[in-house]
Amino acid sequence: MKKILVTGGTGFLGSNVVELLRNKGFDVHSCSRREGIDIRNYSQFKEFVDKIKPELVVHCAAHVGGIAYNALHPVEVFEDNVNIGLNVVRACNESGINKLINIMPNCTYPGHLEEYEESKFWDGAIHDSVLLCLLPEKPEIQAHTSGVSEHVRPKGSF
Ligand SMILES: NC(=O)c1ccc[n+]([C@@H]2O[C@H](COP(=O)([O-])OP(=O)(O)OC[C@H]3O[C@@H](n4cnc5c(N)ncnc54)[C@H](OP(=O)(O)O)[C@@H]3O)[C@@H](O)[C@H]2O)c1
Repeated sequence: MKKILVTGGTGFLGSNVVELLRNKGFDVHSCSRREGIDIRNYSQFKEFVDKIKPELVVHCAAHVGGIAYNALHPVEVFEDNVNIGLNVVRACNESGINKLINIMPNCTYPGHLEEYEESKFWDGAIHDSVLLCLLPEKPEIQAHTSGVSEHVRPKGSF
């Protein structure tokens, strides 16, 4: 039976992924802070990964908030998600796990879309709120970066 690790398996997305995979008969494990693992702590996370030895990691863990929350805590959200993302990729690499599904936030889709379709992923710039959260007090940088945002997609969750 395939062993799968779902990071953030206690969250909104992760708990649904866990349920779906368990119903399909996979041996599913989760990790999150409430389960005793903080992915920002690399050695703690790596030790857990090496104990479980998953064949596949579905990465759903993230520091998540709405637009207002992100605008209030841009540095903490950015820093946590960069560290979480890097630690997941590093642990997979160092533990020889070559299957990783990295969940993207839906704000990586073009801002003007009302319905998200994969075929439309590159059909426009990301929503202005993403830049607002990252650079709330730098309108001149926002204006500059929005010009290139058609070609840039954030990899973590902002
Ligand atoms: N919800 C949606 O409709 C949706 C749609 C598209 C994409 N996404 C993306 O899916 C991902 C998860 O979103 P969500 O809505 O499921 O968020 P959520 O409900 O807040 O779940 C986040 C999960 O990550 C865990 N987590 C947070 N910080 C952690 C840390 N330092 N170490 C270990 N675990 C940590 C949380 O558990 P603890 O707090 O116990 O650590 C929780 O299990 C995000 O990247 C989001 O952008 C979500």
